[in-house]
Amino acid sequence: MAGPPPDGQPAPDDGHLPESALVRLGERGFGIYVHVPFCAARCGYCDFNTYTPSENVGSAETWLAAALAEIDLAGTVLAPAPGGLPRVDTIFVGGGTPTLLPTDYLARVVERIGDVFGLTSDAEVTTEANPESVDAATFARLRGKGFTRVSLGMQSARSHVLAVLDRRHTPGRAVQAAQEARAAGFAHVNLDLIYGAPGESDDDWAASLAAVVAAGVDHVSAYSLIVEDGTRLARQIGRGVLPMPDDDVLADRYLMADEALTRAGLHWYEVSNWAADEAARCRHNELYWRSGDWWGVGPGAHSHVGGVRWWNVRHPARYADRLAAKTSPAQAREVLGADDRRVEDVLLRLRLAEGLPLSALDAAGRAAATQATTDGLLDPAAHGTGRAVLTRRGRLLADAVVRALLT
Ligand SMILES: C[S@@+](CC[C@H](N)C(=O)[O-])C[C@H]1O[C@@H](n2cnc3c(N)ncnc32)[C@H](O)[C@@H]1O
Ligand code: SF4
Repeated sequence: MAGPPPDGQPAPDDGHLPESALVRLGERGFGIYVHVPFCAARCGYCDFNTYTPSENVGSAETWLAAALAEIDLAGTVLAPAPGGLPRVDTIFVGGGTPTLLPTDYLARVVERIGDVFGLTSDAEVTTEANPESVDAATFARLRGKGFTRVSLGMQSARSHVLAVLDRRHTPGRAVQAAQEARAAGFAHVNLDLIYGAPGESDDDWAASLAAVVAAGVDHVSAYSLIVEDGTRLARQIGRGVLPMPDDDVLADRYLMADEALTRAGLHWYEVSNWAADEAARCRHNELYWRSGDWWGVGPGAHSHVGGVRWWNVRHPARYADRLAAKTSPAQAREVLGADDRRVEDVLLRLRLAEGLPLSALDAAGRAAATQATTDGLLDPAAHGTGRAVLTRRGRLLADAVVRALLT
């Protein structure tokens, strides 16, 4: 995970974690996220921590040396856990554009994680990939180096929508890349879509959904376009050059997605994620949603271990300098109290198809769950068995339902 940093407390220079954070390490799985902060060009809607060549933030070699050093640091910091170092269940290499780097660099990161921690026998090893930065040979190399899953940013099957989003690939290239990945032996391939871009019609969205279904992938993520402050898209909307996405349109598009994907045998397991079966789900993201433990390697990467959350400095040069000086790259951290952890748990788990046990709520929350069931937002059958599970309409209003359950 690599998002905007909240404020926090100072993080120790050696990365040391309190004993209490390590007590249950590995009991609920352990994952490593690796952030690659480079893109060929910045898409107008994106506010991720990523840099283009003209920004001169340091070389890929410097990034690699620092990422390897951070993996070693993670081994040192987590070694005192009572159960020893956990083996790694999931690795997710994300960005930015990981596939801008030589495959060998990504492989060396995975190898180092294996050397320091060891991987479980069925470890999930994902990389994100931009369709225009890969070809059939890239997928063959990635598969040969132990990657098990590929996530491709497709966004839309219509070129005018891709143009509004500043994407650099043609509509057909993402589908072709998914087919190349499957031909190279990847059983697990995801396509990311974005809906609600200015100028996108229902017909455009239906075409995007039909294209991912025809691609035969086993996983689809569909996100409503978020207009992030400070992006080119936000400025275009601010100037009135482009319209703001409309909430009713976004809701309709979500329903269209759920209907088309369900019909095609892809079932929702998180509000924005659909998978063909349990094996096709992204286990790394499930770790986040179930408040598991993970270490985030790379500039701006976020980590969470046993209720301590920290985030790295965002600038790649500062990140590399810290590691070269044998200092933790953490910018700050926060130690979550029991109440913070409960709130976060409800927030994340309610978005899952498995929902959460009503016992995770206090009395007011349980009363709100009963009301939400009457209102058609929570599933009555699940409620009868003691769980809060969103209905399709509830998924459209997930944030409001969470707020109600936490009042
Ligand atoms: C940050 S990108 C990284 C992977 C890769 N560079 C790519 O573009 O596919 C991961 C995904 O986040 C989603 N995303 C990024 N910014 C978004 C925004 N403002 N609104 C909705 N989805 C967004 C896109 O679907 C994208 O595929
Ligand atoms: S390619 Fe991906 S990470 Fe890079 S700017 Fe575009 S959406 Fe963001």
